[in-house]
Amino acid sequence: MGIREELESIGQGLREELRTVQDTQSLEQLKVRLLGKKGSLTALLRGMGQLAPEERPKMGQIINERREIMQKMLDEKMRELSEREKQMRLEREALDITEPRDLPEVGAVHPTQAVLREVLDCFTGLGFEVVEGPEVELDKYNFELLNLPKNHPARDAQDTFYVDDNIVMRTHTSPVQARIMLSRKPPIRVVCPGRVFRADEIDATHSPVFHQIEGLVIDENVTMGDLKGTLDAFAKRLYGADITTRFRPSFFPFTEPSAEVDLTCFNCRGKGCRMCKGTGFIEVLGCGMVNPKVLEMCGIDPERYSGFAFGIGLERITLLRYGITDMRLLYEGDLRFLRQFR
Ligand code: PHE
Repeated sequence: MGIREELESIGQGLREELRTVQDTQSLEQLKVRLLGKKGSLTALLRGMGQLAPEERPKMGQIINERREIMQKMLDEKMRELSEREKQMRLEREALDITEPRDLPEVGAVHPTQAVLREVLDCFTGLGFEVVEGPEVELDKYNFELLNLPKNHPARDAQDTFYVDDNIVMRTHTSPVQARIMLSRKPPIRVVCPGRVFRADEIDATHSPVFHQIEGLVIDENVTMGDLKGTLDAFAKRLYGADITTRFRPSFFPFTEPSAEVDLTCFNCRGKGCRMCKGTGFIEVLGCGMVNPKVLEMCGIDPERYSGFAFGIGLERITLLRYGITDMRLLYEGDLRFLRQFR
């Protein structure tokens, strides 16, 4: 076949292939087969060496013209195909941002934490500062500085988890009192929330791990009236204006005098029901005037200063707040229970 015929057939072949080619990748391959180093048109140009010298310029010109035409055809097709591919991709990847979706599940504040927040909010509003102490505590802070020397019978009232002879899992938040008194000067006004530990049974009203909120106020001329007023404000804030406190004499080695405080039963509002066992009141905290002996051991002059302290059982008031009757529900993380607090 002569060069002209070959040119003709290459051109013919190209036109046919351009009619059927569907994508830019195949088109690219087609281009290489034609114009690449081993392409058919390239081979044709090389073959020019076999022509008589006087024929070469003419033939060269013809081939180059054809080549440019073919190049244009290929470019044209390339534009067309890549435009089409782009359109297809845009359609495939299109997002309908107006389409309604399921909302992601959001969690809820745990009831114990919700009540804790309320309590802290109440006391910070009264000018208290929130401080925390360690859960693993020295015997010194948990007992001795609180007027509970070794072998004191009142230690038995709190079944202690001992880590070793001098280290315990704190049995109450009162050790934070001792730490604060030792590290600050009056006036002191703090609340200390946290976990406490006792070797207790697990049942509807007991857990070996629970929470307390300690309160401590030390200043000149602090009286039991201040204690009562503070706890009244707390009770009304959490449960409503008709709720009052009732003080019953009690004993704690670190307070003197000491009291246990009941609140009007939130459930029957004082009339007497199953929840308060007909008494109209529910016990929620222990408190008292800080024992002068404790003040002294913690470096505060009992002649000049006096103070009060209280320890609120957080789970207790949470159960009361929501009318929950089994404390275990607060620890089990059962979603059917927790979802009700969203
Ligand atoms: N720490 C006591 C308890 O856990 C409660 C308490 C705190 C009593 C502060 C008086 C003053 O039982």
